[in-house]
Amino acid sequence: MIPFSPPRIDQKIIDEVTDTLRSGWITTGSKTKRFEKELTAYTGCKATLCLNSATAGLEIMLRWLGVKEGDEVIVPAYTYSATANVVVHCGAKPVFVDVLDDFNIDPEKIRAAITPHTKVIMPVDFGGLPCDYEAINAIALESQNIFKAESKEQEILGRIMVLSDAAHSIGGIYQGKKVGSLTDVSVISFHAVKNLTTAEGGCINLNLPAPFDNEEIYKSLCIKTLHGQDKDALAKTIPGNWRYDIVEAGYKCNMTDIMASIGLVELARYDNDTLPVRKAIVDRYQVAFEKFDWAELPVIYTAEKTSSYHLYPLRIKGVTEAMRDEIMSIIFTKGVSVNVHFIPVPMMSFYKGMGYDVHDYPNTFFQYSREFSLPIFYNLSAADTQTVIDAVISSVEAVLKKYGLNMMLNVLNGSAA
Ligand SMILES: Cc1ncc(COP(=O)(O)O)c(C=O)c1O
Repeated sequence: MIPFSPPRIDQKIIDEVTDTLRSGWITTGSKTKRFEKELTAYTGCKATLCLNSATAGLEIMLRWLGVKEGDEVIVPAYTYSATANVVVHCGAKPVFVDVLDDFNIDPEKIRAAITPHTKVIMPVDFGGLPCDYEAINAIALESQNIFKAESKEQEILGRIMVLSDAAHSIGGIYQGKKVGSLTDVSVISFHAVKNLTTAEGGCINLNLPAPFDNEEIYKSLCIKTLHGQDKDALAKTIPGNWRYDIVEAGYKCNMTDIMASIGLVELARYDNDTLPVRKAIVDRYQVAFEKFDWAELPVIYTAEKTSSYHLYPLRIKGVTEAMRDEIMSIIFTKGVSVNVHFIPVPMMSFYKGMGYDVHDYPNTFFQYSREFSLPIFYNLSAADTQTVIDAVISSVEAVLKKYGLNMMLNVLNGSAA
């Protein structure tokens, strides 16, 4: 079976993790701090805090801003539920908006959804493609007139915060700048299936405008994410430095040096090794499927954007949700793993129970119903990539023929006409 997205665990990773294990220091320590500095340099942001997940990073930033009951946070309907769950955790209301044909949030729909209760916009760089941040940042700036500040941080910002869910998009580029430096705050995921993994993990890239001091915010977030304790475990090892205070009822979501050791190896080879390999796989898929008029290819590059090649979300023209599912079942029988990214959040039981209805987000449902994502991972060989391509083509054609949609099989190269 060709898997979907296994991690790249090679000797370099094993050696670095072993080095941490042997060092006797396995929780947050010097490797986490080094990883944070390297991520700041890589993304071009002002300060980085590493945590145990992107979900924790998103929630911590909502809490830092003082998001609470009665507030609204704008999120795309087309995302993983973590994006919306963190809003619910804070007692606030997720306000879903529809997406564009590239799967990313529609800036005009954001504009229409803003109310005096809106505190945050959380765009998602779906599959690794950065959102239209020029438009989104402009909408946040324009919100100054309507924005109602209800915390010290909100007063300083004076407008809606743009908190980008960059779970997929480390290494993505927008107008020449890297993801992490495109909005007020970005949160990247290092979950096991992500481009750059630490097994589980994530980071907050702080990029808040003056007069915010991002280094000071970093320090306060270190405390907030470690019980509210004013000294971390490393600081307490200094002889005599044992006494500590709890300055707030903080959270517990720090990254460990074991995780950071994987991340350090991954980051060092990300631009010159990981991304070119992922790009080559994506390019092969694009060349293979562009010949078929049933294939709707994902947007990977535009004049302003380059994806991080996290997902390859293929869409099949003219199929229903059930036909898409049937195509996927056949692909699995050919030994290839595929996935759907994502079942829209308003389709989930919990959110349906809250009264959300996916029919209010028609383009989200339309894109979802025709989408499945293909394997991309470092060790996916050219031969296996071809196996994926062949499995997709034969499975799609079988289902289109079965439903009498074979007139759509107007294959431009004539090979399967
Ligand atoms: C769009 C999106 N946001 C947030 C997350 C949460 O990331 P993590 O698992 O690191 O908490 C994910 C995870 O897959 C995701 O896809």
